[in-house]
Parts: sequence; C-alpha cells; structure tokens
Amino acid sequence: MLYDAVVFDLDGTLTDSYEGIANCVVYALQKMGRPVPEEAALQKYMGPPLVYSFMHYDGMTEEEAVYAMQLYRELYVPSGWKQNRVYSGIRVLLKELHENGVHVCVATGKPQETSERILEYFGLMPYIDAVAGPTLQAKTADKTMLIMRALEGISYRKAVMVGDRSTDITGAAGYGIDSIAAGYGYGEREELESVKPTYYVQSVEELSRILLGYVPAQRGYFITMEGLDGCGKTTQMDAVEHALIQRGYDVRRSREPGGCAISEKIRDLLLDVRNGGMCDITEAILYAASRAQHVREVIRPALASGQVVLCDRFVDSSIAFQGGGRELGVELVQKINAPALDGCRPDTTVYLKLDHQTALNRRSAASTPDRIESEKESFHARVEAAYDLLVGQDPQRFVIADARKKPEEITQEILEALYLRMEKAGMA
Ligand code: TMP
Repeated sequence: MLYDAVVFDLDGTLTDSYEGIANCVVYALQKMGRPVPEEAALQKYMGPPLVYSFMHYDGMTEEEAVYAMQLYRELYVPSGWKQNRVYSGIRVLLKELHENGVHVCVATGKPQETSERILEYFGLMPYIDAVAGPTLQAKTADKTMLIMRALEGISYRKAVMVGDRSTDITGAAGYGIDSIAAGYGYGEREELESVKPTYYVQSVEELSRILLGYVPAQRGYFITMEGLDGCGKTTQMDAVEHALIQRGYDVRRSREPGGCAISEKIRDLLLDVRNGGMCDITEAILYAASRAQHVREVIRPALASGQVVLCDRFVDSSIAFQGGGRELGVELVQKINAPALDGCRPDTTVYLKLDHQTALNRRSAASTPDRIESEKESFHARVEAAYDLLVGQDPQRFVIADARKKPEEITQEILEALYLRMEKAGMA
C-alpha cells in the first residue's frame, strides 16, 4: 500500500452533505432578509467554515456572519445534519483500509462535535482512528493545523490527505504530505488543479485504486419486507430505502409480484378484480412464475454486483397467502416455489406484525381493494396465523416490528436490527 495513513476531509469527500447544508444556509439568509444564491453558488459553502463563507460570499461583517451562523444552527442542529449521504463506495473503502492496518483519520472544517456525531450516525466511526475539527465557537479552521492534529501521536511511513477543496490540498502541502483531490466533491476542477494535488480523481473507484491498489467489492445483501395488507409496509419500505442510501449502500428496491416487465404483467393478472374465477393453484403458480423471472432478472444480478436488494414481499407471502389464506398448505406452496427460488433466500426478512382486524380497518380507510385484499376476514385471519407460524420457525431470519407503533419508531427499530445483521454478515 502506497500510504499507511490517510486523512480524509468530510463534506464532499466522505459524505455528500449538500442538501442539509444548503437548506440551512438558505434558511439563515432568508431570516436575515438577504438574497438567496443560485444552486451552483451554494456549492461554495460546502467545506470551508461557514462564518468565512458568509463573509466572503454574502459580504457580511464578522458580526453578521456570526449571527447568520447562529440562525444556521437553529435548523442544522435538530435536523439539517441528518440530511447527508455517504458516497457510494466509501464505506467499503474505509473498512478495507482499516482492516489492512492503514490509519484512517478525518480533518474537517466542520466542528469536531458535529463531525463525530455524523460519522457515528452513519456507522463509519469503527473504521476511523482520529477526528480533528474546530470547536463550535471557532470562526476559522486552518487545514494544516487540523491535519497535524489528526495525525498527532500516530506513527506512519507516508501520509496523504484526500479532500475536495483547494484548502485541503494546500493544507496537505503546508504539512508536507501528498494530496488527492476528490473531483467528485464540491470543488471545481480548475480550483483543484491550480493548487497542484499529487493526484486528481473523479470517482471513489479511482480513489480506491490509488489507496488500495484495487476497488474493493461489497457483498450483496437481500432484505425482504412482509406483513398483512394495511400493515404500513410502503411507509417502512420508503424510510428504510432512504436510510440505506444515506448510509452509502447501493440499493435496488423491488416488489413482488412484479419487479420486472414480465413479472409486472403477471402481477396485473393476479390482482385484477375481474379475475375472480382464478383457481387457487393457478394463483399460487402465477405468483411463483412471477418470482422465477424476478429472481433471475433482478434479484440475483443485483446481489452479485454488491447491491442491497430491498424487496416488498417475497416467497413468505406465498406461504402465508396461498399456503395459509387459500389453505393450499405450506408444503405444496414450498414445492411450487422451489424451482422459482432455486436456492435464493433473503438474508433478513422484516415482518410488520399487525392483527388482521386492525389491518382491515386501516385498509378500508386507505384505498380500493385489489383481488386479494377483497377476500373475507377469515382469509386474512388465516394469513396472519400462517405468518406467525413462519416467523416462529425461522427466528434467525426475521426481524419482527410491532406495526402498531409510530412509523418513526418502527423505522428506528428496523434499522438498528438491520445494521447489526449486515455488519455480522461482514458488510461494511
Ligand atoms: P402488495 O399490495 O403488497 O403489492 O401485494 C399484492 C398482493 O398480493 C397482496 O394482497 C399480497 C398478495 N400476494 C400473495 O398472495 N402471494 C404472494 O406470493 C405475493 C408476493 C403477494
């Protein structure tokens, strides 16, 4: 490995913090009755300390800039800091560096406390040896000093600074170490090249090739979500998808029946209320047929390329609805599905547990029922019983969430369980 100590900048290098920072800058400027810059001009606020930016880009006096900063924090402290996203490929790069004995540090113009909170929230802290950032009160932050602090007490042979703004590159030169300009961040190419970084990269893949000599592969991970119609699955799918993307995973969201063109056509057949004459075994085989295509066309290739597949329903729905609801029995439904699945199995299945009466009440308040939703209450009671049996038989695979709780609480519980399992499975 070329370098045994790597100092990363945070905003625009490890995370894309544009949304949160831009929203809070706009909020502060509006509150002060100042003009709001265009989106392109807002990019400049990413990286340097904000008091500096308010003075240089908005012509504020220092006193005004300090006040703007207070306004900014009104929004940033409660929620703005979470509007952030780890760049794709960064998690696995940091993990790989850490596991290869490379010292991984962060030197950022963002206050240290906030930076640590962000790195903790996104689960990156286990790979990081040291974080150096200014105090909450500091108005400026000299990058050379921050790099020095980040590397303090660490013994290394050759260090490099990775950052997306010219101050990162000049800061590295000031400390006498190499630098890599992260061209995928907020700095313009001319800004970065004018200060002569040792390397200029346009992607995390290129960065990985310099730091590791290769692009590390993330293993795929298969998550499915199950429950009765009306259990709040869509809300949780949205929230979990959003959180996984923010954490830096490459997410492939899908659904069953459906998920690809052929399977979506089968879905239409299955859910069409005009197909009331469909016999139970036809129904079970059609669900399996849709699944066979989906597994081969979408799920397997996505997992093989290291994506996290997040699927709304999978074979458990067939076991519960056709096996239980239609009373075809678990064994027959498993037999029908065996060639469709061909060994494809979720790593984790989230079950949103809700009794069938409450689910029914929620459904009738929401939308026009499809063919399955229109079934009698006894059908849904059998589906519920079948799910309970399934979950009990495979507690390792299932995460059970109480669907009566508040949506945000449910999401929180699901995510905590998911991250633990993903980590156990060896994922970054
Ligand atoms: P959705 O409304 O959650 O998209 O699901 C469509 C309906 O299909 C839902 O009522 C559950 C049902 N279903 C089965 O009966 N068997 C299955 O294998 C799947 C995937 C769904």
